[in-house]
Amino acid sequence: MAQGQEQEKLIIFDTTLRDGEQSPGISLDATEKLEIAEQLARLNVDYIEAGFPVASQGDFEAVRMIAERVEGPAIAALSRTHLSDVDRCWEALKPAARKRIHVFISTSPSHMESMLKMTEAQVLTETRAGVARARGYTEDVEFSPQDATRTPLDFMIEVLQAAVDSGATTLNVPDTVGYGIPWDFGALIGYVRKNVSGDYMISTHCHNDLGLATANSLAGVQAGARQVEVCVNGLGERAGNAALEEVVMAVKIRSDIFQGLTTQVRTEELARTSRMVARLTGYPVQYNKAVVGRNAFAHESGIHQHGVLADRSTYEIIDAESVGQKSSQIVLGKHSGRHAFSDTLTKMGINIKGDALNAAFTRFKELADRKMDITEADLEAIVAEELGTVATDAFSLEELKVSGGTVGTPQATVAISSAAGRVEATAEGNGMIDAAGQAIQKATSISANLIGFSVSSITGGVDAIGDVVVQLESDGVKVSGKGISTDVVEASARAYLNAINRLQRALVRREAAEREVGP
Ligand code: KIV
Ligand code: ZN
Repeated sequence: MAQGQEQEKLIIFDTTLRDGEQSPGISLDATEKLEIAEQLARLNVDYIEAGFPVASQGDFEAVRMIAERVEGPAIAALSRTHLSDVDRCWEALKPAARKRIHVFISTSPSHMESMLKMTEAQVLTETRAGVARARGYTEDVEFSPQDATRTPLDFMIEVLQAAVDSGATTLNVPDTVGYGIPWDFGALIGYVRKNVSGDYMISTHCHNDLGLATANSLAGVQAGARQVEVCVNGLGERAGNAALEEVVMAVKIRSDIFQGLTTQVRTEELARTSRMVARLTGYPVQYNKAVVGRNAFAHESGIHQHGVLADRSTYEIIDAESVGQKSSQIVLGKHSGRHAFSDTLTKMGINIKGDALNAAFTRFKELADRKMDITEADLEAIVAEELGTVATDAFSLEELKVSGGTVGTPQATVAISSAAGRVEATAEGNGMIDAAGQAIQKATSISANLIGFSVSSITGGVDAIGDVVVQLESDGVKVSGKGISTDVVEASARAYLNAINRLQRALVRREAAEREVGP
């Protein structure tokens, strides 16, 4: 096996931008994907799977942009075995310094019969053709037999052997439907290792339908896999994929079990990466999420607090700082000037200039007037909000007035500006937040159904900044939007407008794509 030199290294293959983006309701545009990819490069993952270029023009462009601009990790993209898919995949990846084509085809009886309508012989032919085409372009080719854990063993081995013989260098074993149980999945990896000959590395790709994705990935590593496919915050189809932060920290903290195996991930970037992905995808991180949840280092009971004060290791196996979890750190206040503001951002690795910096500074001042201390996490949210707005938004919120209470009908008036000028609209709702949403729909003339709403605070305290996520649906398109403010109604209106802006962009993109395809 090609694991000699890399024996002690575990390759981290991040698929947040491909499988993670397949989470219901997530729709990232190319700029957002680039922002996440740049943070993944800071996190120092080995591979970024940037997308599935043949899926849409938007996916193609996002992969291409990441391949052009992101330095450090190798860039991978997904492709079916069709030769034209492989060609398109290569076209998108071309500008990257290091690139991988990831070819897949389903191998389980259920997928072959119901979806592919292919026989085993046809799947073998497709595998050989797709992998060979990819190998003609690059020496770094990964192959995945989709639904491997429900594929008869003999056939899976036959397909994997065909892939290696045709040029695949990494064999990924996807537990597509999250069916595996750790010892059974570990045995499967051991079986592949023993029965497929040639020069290749084994990879795991575990879904979380039974809540076992991290455990299964680790069992695979224990059995000899030297690559894990993971997503930040465990995003991914349905219940998600193995969480990057969990797998990385398990291998690090239990190096006694993993016998010195290491990843090259800069773990201090984990919390920031998690916050950025949550913000841009609109998928909040559950409070008690391992490693990156806000309560991962919070101690409630007196006995635990006492223990941790005396010696952190009494109740903590991870040093919070080692995963970047010290967000309570106060960085700025209302007296901080522009210089301190931009200096702090630079130290945090955020480089914004010109109009974006001015807009972010104005918003910071507005919030600092209402909130005593601004933390790193608050600053990230402020900058992110302004970057989105300055870059591409069609509408911006000028004013919001609301009235409501236990008597009378709640009402909201908004003033929205766009290239067409300023529009005011008033609407009623079943609460002030609903009224604000209705008024925004009127003012922008974009209507949508609210399908999700959640509110959390970025940091604690009575003056905490509220972080609202809304999900909207219109004409089959689902988007999410985020907004922050010390006032929850204002944060909701901002989130609503942020989602409307995304919806507007998504609808424009869809219209353009329909025009390309023609009648
Ligand atoms: O879950 C899966 O099988 C996948 C493959 C495309 C690797 O995501
Ligand atoms: Zn998957």
